[in-house]
Amino acid sequence: MKLESPEEPAAIDPLSEELRALAERLQGALAEAGDATALEAIRVRFLGRSGEITRASRTIGSLPPAERPEAGKSINAARVEMETRIAAQAEALGARAFAADLATAIDVTFPATALAMGGLHPIRRAMEDACAYFERRGFAVVLGNEIETDYYNFDALNIPPDHPAREGLDSFYLRPGVLLRTHTSPMQVRTMRAVPPPLAIVVPGKAYRRDAIDARHSPMFHQIEGLLVAPGIHLGHLKGVLTGLFRELFGPAQAVRFRPSFFPFTEPSAEVDTTCPGCDGSGCKTCGGSGWIEIGGAGMVHPDVLRESGYDPASVTGWAFGVGIERIAMVRQDIDDIRVLFENDPRVLASLA
Ligand code: PHE
Repeated sequence: MKLESPEEPAAIDPLSEELRALAERLQGALAEAGDATALEAIRVRFLGRSGEITRASRTIGSLPPAERPEAGKSINAARVEMETRIAAQAEALGARAFAADLATAIDVTFPATALAMGGLHPIRRAMEDACAYFERRGFAVVLGNEIETDYYNFDALNIPPDHPAREGLDSFYLRPGVLLRTHTSPMQVRTMRAVPPPLAIVVPGKAYRRDAIDARHSPMFHQIEGLLVAPGIHLGHLKGVLTGLFRELFGPAQAVRFRPSFFPFTEPSAEVDTTCPGCDGSGCKTCGGSGWIEIGGAGMVHPDVLRESGYDPASVTGWAFGVGIERIAMVRQDIDDIRVLFENDPRVLASLA
C-alpha cells in the first residue's frame, strides 16, 4: 500500500509572512483605538512615510529582480487593505460618537407631543372681564369674607330682624349670628367703615343661599357688587356705567333697563335688565320672548346704610349694584343650565374655551 507522503509545507515566504504579521498588529492596534486622535496615530505608525509598510517595502531591493514585481504587488495590496481597515474603523468611531451625541442632544425637529392647554373657567373669565372694566374706570377691586355676621349681612343693610331672608330656611348658618354671606352687599358697609368718601369699589365673589339645585339655581353662586359714593352721585351715573359694562361683556348694541323694585338697603331700588344678547332684543327662548334678560339688582344707597357706615347722607350720595356672574357666563357661552358651570366636565369646559 502506497503511503502518501505528507504534503510539503509551503515554502515560507518571508515577505508575505511579514505582511501577515503587520496586518495582525494593525488589527490589534485598531481594536484599541478609541477616538480619531488614536486612529490618526495608528495611520502614521503603519502607513506614514517612515511607517511599517514603508519599512516592509524597503526589503524589495534585496530580492532577486525576478521576484520584485510580485513583491511590489503584494505590498501595495497590503497597503490598500490597511487603508480600508483604518477607514472602516474611522467610520465606526464616527457613528459611535454620533450616537452618543444623539443620546444627549435635543432634536428640535422631532414632532412634539401635543399638550392639552388649560383655560380659565367661564365664571372666572366673566369675573375678570367685569373687574377689568371697572378698574379702568378707577374702581378698586375688594375681596370680602364669605363668612359673615348677621350684622353685616343683614342689620347694617337695613334688613329688619323679621325679614324672611333672615330665616335659616334661606341662609346657611354656621352658628347663631354667623352665616355664609347671602350676597356681596355686606362689603358695602365694611368698606365704607374702613375708607372715607369718595369711594368706588367692586367686590367679586361667592355668595350662598339655601336654594334647591335646578337649571337656574345653585346654593353657591357668584356676584359682583359695585359701590360708588361721592357728592352728587345719581342713578344716571349707574345706568351709564352698567351700559358700558354690558357693552363690553356682550357687545356694542346692549342697552340697560331699570324696573322698579325693592331692596331694604337701596332707595329707590331697581331690577337691572340688559338687552338679550341671544336675539339682540327681538325675543327668543333665552329671554322668554321679552328681549331683555334680568342680570342684577341696584339702587341708590339707603341713607340709613350710609349713616350706619359712618357716612353723612347730607353730603354724599351713592349707588350700588349686584350683578350675577353665572348669568353673564351662561349668556356669553350660550349655556342654559347653571349646573354645567359647576359639574366641570373637562370635555364641556374645553368646548367653552
Ligand atoms: N344684594 C342684592 C342681591 O343679592 C343685589 C343688590 C346689590 C341690590 C346692591 C341693590 C344694590 O340680590
